Amino acid sequence: MNKGFTLSNGIVIPEVGFGSYLSTVNAGKENIKMALDAGYRYIDTARFYNNEEEVGEAWTEYGLAREELFLCSKVWPTFLGYEKTKESFEESCRCLKTDYLDMYLIHWPKQNQKDDNWAEKMREGWRALEDLYEEGRIRAIGVSNFLPHHLMELMKTAKIKPMLDQLELHVGYMQEYTLNYLEGEGILPQAWSPLGRGRVLNDTRIEELAVKYGKTNAQILLRFLLDRGIPVIPKASSLERMKQNLNVDGFRLSDEEISYLSSIPEIGWSGEHPDMVDF
Ligand SMILES: NC(=O)c1ccc[n+]([C@@H]2O[C@H](COP(=O)([O-])OP(=O)(O)OC[C@H]3O[C@@H](n4cnc5c(N)ncnc54)[C@H](OP(=O)(O)O)[C@@H]3O)[C@@H](O)[C@H]2O)c1
Repeated sequence: MNKGFTLSNGIVIPEVGFGSYLSTVNAGKENIKMALDAGYRYIDTARFYNNEEEVGEAWTEYGLAREELFLCSKVWPTFLGYEKTKESFEESCRCLKTDYLDMYLIHWPKQNQKDDNWAEKMREGWRALEDLYEEGRIRAIGVSNFLPHHLMELMKTAKIKPMLDQLELHVGYMQEYTLNYLEGEGILPQAWSPLGRGRVLNDTRIEELAVKYGKTNAQILLRFLLDRGIPVIPKASSLERMKQNLNVDGFRLSDEEISYLSSIPEIGWSGEHPDMVDF
């Protein structure tokens, strides 16, 4: 059974979710059904992924009761603002065939470097999330790709502190400054691209640990994040890989190994920085 991490409002999120970005490009909704077959009960999606309809069809055709599934989606920065964010949320719910979401995140704090008004739009978007949370339409609210200075702007007017921050986190890109800040604020980090989108999978330092523990390289990368207290949302295309990524219990890395992997100089960064993106 997939264990969980508890958010500041007491909601438990599964430690391993299924990352659906680009996952439906080839197999469509069958890819999501395959993830459900593998045992995933947490699907990470977003308006931007353009696959919410496929996720909605997959889980309903699969025959799950809504409460058996943890569904997370995100509002894209061009839809930040009180009314626009609410409209985007309703569209996500319609596509996902649900009247509530388990978690809803602001996907990125800003559109691009010239987005001078980003803080105001982001704060208004957050106000929409707060209202939807208080109305019971969302069980947990959070952000994604927010660094401490973005969170400081948000918290100038927030009534409710974000419960989670979904960030690029993997061996070779651990964003320690932000992790320290989140810990101090009681905000749970969550790792996107936990396998570095494949870029760190074949590193010989990972391979050595995989041999030692009799696990795959992917399992070592995921175990490392979980041992650091960070839930993960890997994406995979085959049933075998999906199961592998879910089956990461039964061993732990030593403190020395965690320190070693945490200190590997930067490798595998996506190149996407929240203050330098251009959407
Ligand atoms: N909030 C954000 O801004 C943001 C940004 C990016 C991603 N995300 C979320 O995070 C999720 C995961 O990130 P990601 O898709 O970028 O990258 P990832 O999960 O780190 O890596 C996926 C890549 O690793 C391969 N892979 C998966 N399992 C494997 C295994 N056991 N052995 C060998 N290779 C394996 C996959 O290949 P195959 O597919 O060919 O199996 C794919 O090429 C996304 O799907 C999305 O939901 C969020």
